[in-house]
Amino acid sequence: MISDLYIEQLRRQFPILDQQVNEHALIYLDNAATTQKPQLVIDAICHYYQTSNANVHRSSHTLSNQATQLFEQSREKVQHFINAKRSQEIIWTKGTTEGFNLLANVFAEQLNVGDEIIISAIEHHANIVPWQILAKQTGAIIKVIPLTDEHALDIHAYQQLLSNKTKIVTVAHVSNALGIVNPIKEIIDLAHQFDAKVMIDGAQAIAHIGVDVQQLDCDFYLFSGHKLYGPTGVGVLYGKYDLLDQLPVWQGGGEMIKTVTFEESSYNQLPFKYEAGTPNIAGAIGLGAAIDFMNELDAIASQQHELRLIEYTENALSQISEIEVFAKGAYKSGSISFIVKNEHSADIAMLLNAQGIAVRSGTHCAMPLMSALNCNGTIRVSFSIYNTLDEAKMFIEALKKVIALLVD
Ligand code: ALA
Repeated sequence: MISDLYIEQLRRQFPILDQQVNEHALIYLDNAATTQKPQLVIDAICHYYQTSNANVHRSSHTLSNQATQLFEQSREKVQHFINAKRSQEIIWTKGTTEGFNLLANVFAEQLNVGDEIIISAIEHHANIVPWQILAKQTGAIIKVIPLTDEHALDIHAYQQLLSNKTKIVTVAHVSNALGIVNPIKEIIDLAHQFDAKVMIDGAQAIAHIGVDVQQLDCDFYLFSGHKLYGPTGVGVLYGKYDLLDQLPVWQGGGEMIKTVTFEESSYNQLPFKYEAGTPNIAGAIGLGAAIDFMNELDAIASQQHELRLIEYTENALSQISEIEVFAKGAYKSGSISFIVKNEHSADIAMLLNAQGIAVRSGTHCAMPLMSALNCNGTIRVSFSIYNTLDEAKMFIEALKKVIALLVD
């Protein structure tokens, strides 16, 4: 169990947390939208710009060599963090959304009319819209795994959807809107029985759950740096080497080529084949530092701490009669979503903000899920390793005040 003293010390690494918002101590519970950054990440980015800024892989001068070394070290840190077999399986992206757009584009040639893509009812728009665009281009059909009455993915229905027509299965590891942890190992193994390729949206899992891509045996795993204590504008697409190697190129430009003439071009090897243009060098280095931060934590104790916050909050919310908690009792990671009956989620979030508490309200980039839940938005509270039980308690007290104000 992580002690209060340990969390107190950890919080000191996050300068942003030590401030007043609307004359209250900030309570930051919007970690699913983006996590705050430890000083070590901020320092790594500053240090890079102060000492080593140059373009990577292009020049032979000292600064370029330093930048390239730092950049490639970060790739290796990611490789080890998710236990990928080779560093060439780690492609830098702008974030999870760009990773999905890359995949949807390079799979265009693989799909024929009538082929099926399975997504789920809880997906973020980033794991819906690129596939809709692809389906329009290719004549492929999108099938959706529905929810059970408890708001979990209906695995029985998923089994019924799978067939020899299934070419792609793409689902979230953890739901961004509800916090539910999906049984992705089972989903992956079932899909592989039909030779479908499986893509996992790891954006909401990567900071909370140990990810081992070899053990999961997923074909692709995607996440964003900024939800893992790293900077915005950088993310990772992991893919199995043989698959990435065979798939066509996406964006054209410098770095992704081997030779170019006006008639034709030949392409670079992995991972550079998918990294056209100057990459987000500082972002990748910052993400490497974020992984150093994660590696210093006791992973099991951190998970237990976050689960304790979730359990406390869900229990406390469940005791307030005006509140409906979604996916109550389900195994969650990071987030809890709820509504205050007959009240608009944006009003609740605004009144919480007046008390220094940051939460997200609305549709959480998951409009089809909101339709399935029959609501126009929820309030989402999302935790991180630096949140304390006291903060969870203060959030509940503040929420009770808001409800009393609105319901009176
Ligand atoms: N995808 C982020 C969220 O769920 C922005 O809030």
